[in-house]
Amino acid sequence: MGLRLAIIYGSVRTDRQGIRAARFILNTCAARGHTVSLIDPLQFPLPLLDKMFKEYDPGQAPEQLQRVADLIIPADAYIIVSGEYNHTIPPALVNTLDHFLEEYFRKPSGIVCYSAGAFGGVRAAMTLRAMLAELGMSSIPSIFPLPQIQNRFHEDGTPIDASLNEKAREFLEELEWYGYALKRARSESSPRSECSAQALV
Ligand SMILES: Cc1cc2nc3c(=O)[nH]c(=O)nc-3n(C[C@H](O)[C@H](O)[C@H](O)COP(=O)(O)O)c2cc1C
Repeated sequence: MGLRLAIIYGSVRTDRQGIRAARFILNTCAARGHTVSLIDPLQFPLPLLDKMFKEYDPGQAPEQLQRVADLIIPADAYIIVSGEYNHTIPPALVNTLDHFLEEYFRKPSGIVCYSAGAFGGVRAAMTLRAMLAELGMSSIPSIFPLPQIQNRFHEDGTPIDASLNEKAREFLEELEWYGYALKRARSESSPRSECSAQALV
């Protein structure tokens, strides 16, 4: 049985390139038997953060926020597709992520990072890794960097170089291990406390 996966992508630029990487991951996850959704801020436009999802009474969240929550809450794992803007995380991605917290807890994440240059967005990925840990969805050890994103994919997400399929397989196998392990752990025991480190500092 597959996992429920949510891909979270974070560019709204007219000429955005990373959407192709997001489609590649989406298609690859689906082919591996997972139920996968793509949270694209153009399709799910959230305002700059006012209230987090948890701050609304049940059923009172704005429709767009509820639609994103309906994908975030049941997910077993998250794949974050992040570009690199000025060596850090694109603002639309941060804004989407910040609308939730407890909804992510005790689930793993994987980072797919990219950039136009040679480094594949790894500087943003290191900052993102710290943020994901704070959000309670610690990232798996491997990351999946994609340098020269503009030359990597066709519009529909098909890779130009088929060797990316093998790299994606290795990356997703690792995420799946954590995804299934934590899913089992969540079903077997509830944590002693709902406190996060955030609540303690
Ligand atoms: C505001 C901005 C800042 C950028 N900063 C970096 C950067 O620090 N490092 C880098 O490698 N590329 C940088 N780039 C180039 C991006 O890697 C490239 O434009 C990429 O396609 C952006 O992702 P997107 O097309 O999905 O929005 C930047 C691009 C923008 C628009």
